[in-house]
Amino acid sequence: MLVDTYGRRATDLRVSLTDRCNLRCTYCMPEEGLQWLAKPDLLSDDETVRLIRVAVTLLGVTDVRFTGGEPLLRPGLTGIVERCAALDPRPRMSLTTNGIGLARTAAALKAAGLDRVNVSLDTLRPEVFHRLTRRDRHHDVIHGLEAARAAGLTPIKINTVLMPGVNDDEAPELLAWAIAEGYELRFIEQMPLDAQHGWKRDGMITADAIIASLSSRFTLAPEGEQRRGAAPAERWLVDGGPHRVGVIASVTRPFCAACDRTRLTADGQVRSCLFAREETDLRAALRSGAPDAEIADLWRRAMWGKKAGSGLDDPSFLQPDRPMSAIGG
Ligand SMILES: C[S@@+](CC[C@H](N)C(=O)[O-])C[C@H]1O[C@@H](n2cnc3c(N)ncnc32)[C@H](O)[C@@H]1O
Repeated sequence: MLVDTYGRRATDLRVSLTDRCNLRCTYCMPEEGLQWLAKPDLLSDDETVRLIRVAVTLLGVTDVRFTGGEPLLRPGLTGIVERCAALDPRPRMSLTTNGIGLARTAAALKAAGLDRVNVSLDTLRPEVFHRLTRRDRHHDVIHGLEAARAAGLTPIKINTVLMPGVNDDEAPELLAWAIAEGYELRFIEQMPLDAQHGWKRDGMITADAIIASLSSRFTLAPEGEQRRGAAPAERWLVDGGPHRVGVIASVTRPFCAACDRTRLTADGQVRSCLFAREETDLRAALRSGAPDAEIADLWRRAMWGKKAGSGLDDPSFLQPDRPMSAIGG
C-alpha cells in the first residue's frame, strides 16, 4: 500500500505519457521555448507498463489516469492501455486529453480497455479557443468528444479553466451545452503550475465566482454529502437534477486532507503531489536492474514523505520547477 504519515492512502495513479502538447494554453505553456524531455529520458512503453504493474499488483493502486502533456501524442498509447487492461487486478483506466485526435482513436482505445475520458475544453467560441490555446483546433475537440461518446468512453467529463476577460463570461453557456450533449462539466481553479510562472492569486476566477455566475441562470444545490478525494470536485445538482456540475477549488478550498493520488512523470519520477518539490527516481532503479519489490519499496518511501498540504497558502510557497505539462495534469 502507498500510505503517508497523515494516514492517507494513494490508490489513484496519474501517469504522464509525454510532456509534449499540440496546444499552447496560455495558463499552461509559453508560446515557444519550452524544453522537451529528451527521448532517451522518457520511459519506454515496456518500462511504463512495468511501473503500472508494480503499482497495481504490489501497491494497491486501483485507478490509472493517463495524462501529459497530451497523451494522444504518445504513439504507443493503445498498446499501453491494452497491456494494463490485462493486469490482475485490472485497474479502472481513464485519459485526460485535449480531445484532438480522439475522433481517430476513440474506438480503438475503448476496444483496448480504456473506460472513460476527461476532455479539456475552456470555451465554445472557436475564436476564443484560438486565442487561449494559440491553435485553431476547436472543431477537432468537438469531433473528438462526439467520437468518444459514440465509442462509449463514458461518463465524459469536461475540464474547464476560466480566465478573467477571456472566457469567464461563458460559464452558464458551457453548462447548458454540456447538459444538452450529455457531458459532465467541471470547472477547475487556475493553479500556479504554468511554465512561465505568471500565475497571480488575484488574477484567478475563484470557485465562489463560478458558482455565482452559474446561479444567474441555474438553481444549484449541493449534491448530498460533498465527497472529496478521488473525485475532488464539489458537485452541485442543476435545477433539481439529475444533471450536475462540479467545481474543483484546488486553490481556495484545497482537498489535500482527502488526497488519494500518486503521480508518475513521463521520465519515471514519482511525485507525491502536484506541488511537491522533490521527486523519486524510479527510472534509474528500473534501468539498473532493480527487482519489482525494490521499486515498490522506493515508491512507498516516496509517498510516506507526502506533505500535509500543497502549501499554496504558505507565504513561503514556491512554485515547483516543473510545470503541469511536465508533471502530468
Ligand atoms: C496539463 S493538461 C494534460 C492533459 C491534456 N493535454 C489535456 O488538455 O487535458 C491537464 C489539465 O490541466 C489543466 N491545466 C493546465 N494548467 C493548469 C493550471 N495552471 N491550472 C489549472 N489547470 C491547469 C488543463 O486545462 C487540463 O484540463
